[in-house]
Amino acid sequence: MIDWPAPRDARRPVDVAVGIQWGDEGKGRVVDLLARNYGVIARFGGGDNAGHSIEVGETKLALHVVPSGVLVDGTKLFIGAGTVASLRGLVDEIDMLAKLGIDVSRISISDRAHVVFPYHAALDRLSERQRGSGAIGTTGRGIGPAYVDRAARLGITFGDLSKPALLASKIRAALLARAPLLSGADGLPTEEDVVGETLALAQRIVPHVVPGVRWLHDAIARGERILAEGAQGTMLDVNFGTYPFVTSSVTIAGGACTGLGVGPTTIGGVLGVAKAYCTRVGSGPFPSELDDERGERLRAQGREFGVTTGRPRRCGWYDAVAARYAAELNGLDTLVITKLDVLSGFERLGIVTGYSRADGTPCGVEGIGEPDLGVEIEEHPGWSEDLRGVRRIADLPANAHAFVERLAELTGVPVRAVSVGPERSALAT
Ligand code: IMP
Repeated sequence: MIDWPAPRDARRPVDVAVGIQWGDEGKGRVVDLLARNYGVIARFGGGDNAGHSIEVGETKLALHVVPSGVLVDGTKLFIGAGTVASLRGLVDEIDMLAKLGIDVSRISISDRAHVVFPYHAALDRLSERQRGSGAIGTTGRGIGPAYVDRAARLGITFGDLSKPALLASKIRAALLARAPLLSGADGLPTEEDVVGETLALAQRIVPHVVPGVRWLHDAIARGERILAEGAQGTMLDVNFGTYPFVTSSVTIAGGACTGLGVGPTTIGGVLGVAKAYCTRVGSGPFPSELDDERGERLRAQGREFGVTTGRPRRCGWYDAVAARYAAELNGLDTLVITKLDVLSGFERLGIVTGYSRADGTPCGVEGIGEPDLGVEIEEHPGWSEDLRGVRRIADLPANAHAFVERLAELTGVPVRAVSVGPERSALAT
């Protein structure tokens, strides 16, 4: 078990777990491990662009919107106001979980979360086509356009789903506003089609919709602890990531407050999840990327293919400059390192410890994206042992132990757990 946060403070009932790289750090399995300590696991941002995978025994789950506490009986699962979700995706995910015998009545959705419509996905694809070689490489799920509509006050919330007349008028207004773009995308859907499809799916979803702020604060008042589960990673944050090659939501720990409706004084611990190396899907700068056989080997050994899109992930060394930046942005008190076992068999390993501009002057993350950014790489001896049976950090082979210590030191955050295999139990603490 991960002993975190230690000690727990009853006056600060909300803890936050976030990814500190470019997503896919293994947050799902970490949240699954922590879930038994919480009454509620709450998603605060993103949508079904996320792919959180959990493996327990024969059960392998890929979740997109439903929080990663599903495999822990009795834990309530909350989808907060900061998230966006497609009705079709949500219904399919709920059906998939029900088929596995999971009690889906535990799933609640905030009335203030926003609906992603098929026309958002069409706009996402159109916008990518228009960007040409500058495309962001989005997941194509319509996440960006849904957040644009929210900010433009054209969005439709889950609370609207139970009011058919209001829903129809809001859909009409949204389609009207987006008509010039949609006619250039995959065709303009008719209002009747969108309303009809939405109402049919809404029947399945409305029973899960709750007045989110009341619901969550009632849980807190009952003395339940809340684990806020981040989606994507810090470097994909819309404000602080590698803009414009980012997602459209707040992925950092502060997003738990704005995405759930809890004040900063409720936050207890903030845990960061990082892989022992780095990956990125889609375009955009990635300073520690390995464009050679070492990158390919990381991809093969780490099975680095997207859960949501199946795309091969770009791979590189652990980037301690980005990690330290993420530690500051999130206020991390604890770090969990995942996939250390993937590095077994590499003769030499690297950690990026600094960047420099084309003229040789050192720089920090503000230099990411500049042409010819140089990286300083610290080399470490590897290890050949299979780590999958190790259960104590102290029992790691000497080189693996030293590598983990160095990651903690360079990131400036203590490491409380290291995953050494995909199974729930494959964890060294
Ligand atoms: P969007 O979130 O679909 O708009 O995509 C924007 C960027 O975020 C793209 O580079 C995606 O590959 C990336 N992205 C979105 N969700 C995830 C995720 O769950 N893991 C990793 N990358 C993601």
